[in-house]
Amino acid sequence: MALFGPLNPPLPAWKDARVWVIGASYGIGAAVARALLARGAHVALSARSADKLRDVAGDPSAAKGAALIEPLDFTDTSAVARAFERVRGAFKRVDLVLIVAGTHKEVRAWELTDADSRALLEVNLHGPIGVVAAVVPGLLAQGRGAIGIVSSLAGYRGLPKALVYGASKAALINFAETLYLDLRPKNIGVYLINPGFVKTPLTDRNQFPMPNLISAEDAAGEILRGMERREFEIHFPKAFSRKMRLLRHLPYRLYFAAVRRATGL
Ligand SMILES: NC(=O)c1ccc[n+]([C@@H]2O[C@H](COP(=O)([O-])OP(=O)(O)OC[C@H]3O[C@@H](n4cnc5c(N)ncnc54)[C@H](OP(=O)(O)O)[C@@H]3O)[C@@H](O)[C@H]2O)c1
Repeated sequence: MALFGPLNPPLPAWKDARVWVIGASYGIGAAVARALLARGAHVALSARSADKLRDVAGDPSAAKGAALIEPLDFTDTSAVARAFERVRGAFKRVDLVLIVAGTHKEVRAWELTDADSRALLEVNLHGPIGVVAAVVPGLLAQGRGAIGIVSSLAGYRGLPKALVYGASKAALINFAETLYLDLRPKNIGVYLINPGFVKTPLTDRNQFPMPNLISAEDAAGEILRGMERREFEIHFPKAFSRKMRLLRHLPYRLYFAAVRRATGL
């Protein structure tokens, strides 16, 4: 593996790309789907809310590309496998499977329950892993393609209120790293996407000030630019992600003190 140069193989130009976005009904995934359609891509849109997927696909700014609606619950592995076959059949190939879907619930130690934790891990961890399991054989058979997984800067290290969410995202980071090691030699790209705070229905519930909050449209732009640069880890916004990357390397004593100071928790 080369020490310099892009980490991922090139994707086709967006106007020629065939992309499956899972979690495309609102939030970051909808913004990415709109941006791809506006660039002329063929985009399959999945999530549970079929009506919202149709709204995204029918957005006038999305008129250049071709949209295919594939409503599904991505924790249903047989539904995912069937949808992938339909997308491949319609598009003839899939260049990128982008897994954006996820959920969030604030949890502190004294609020932890087994049932809630399992429900969150089912969506945030088993959901993406199930999609990857379903699509890898097809991508290998094509001999090309890529998988993008949206994790979070909250997966770098433990943060207050993110007791199970942070664990799910840390696991996804490790999963994406290992996936890269397996798939890159086989000409399949892997993108690990670690956003900071993005304004979406998910973060609209947050009661605390969110530093360096950006719009879903700006997040979509960062994701597509990172893929054009063929990066492995696409982290943003830089003003926030650079600080988080620095904190990642602090010894525990300094890290815990810095987090308490920044959050008051
Ligand atoms: N917003 C942020 O600040 C932020 C920061 C870091 C990381 N992230 C991550 O970025 C991703 C997107 O976040 P967001 O803020 O855009 O969230 P959001 O506004 O809540 O959107 C979540 C998307 O996932 C879909 N989804 C949820 N459960 C699903 C399921 N079981 N099956 C299929 N689709 C499902 C939702 O559609 P339906 O409800 O229609 O199914 C929706 O399209 C998540 O993985 C999140 O953890 C977000």
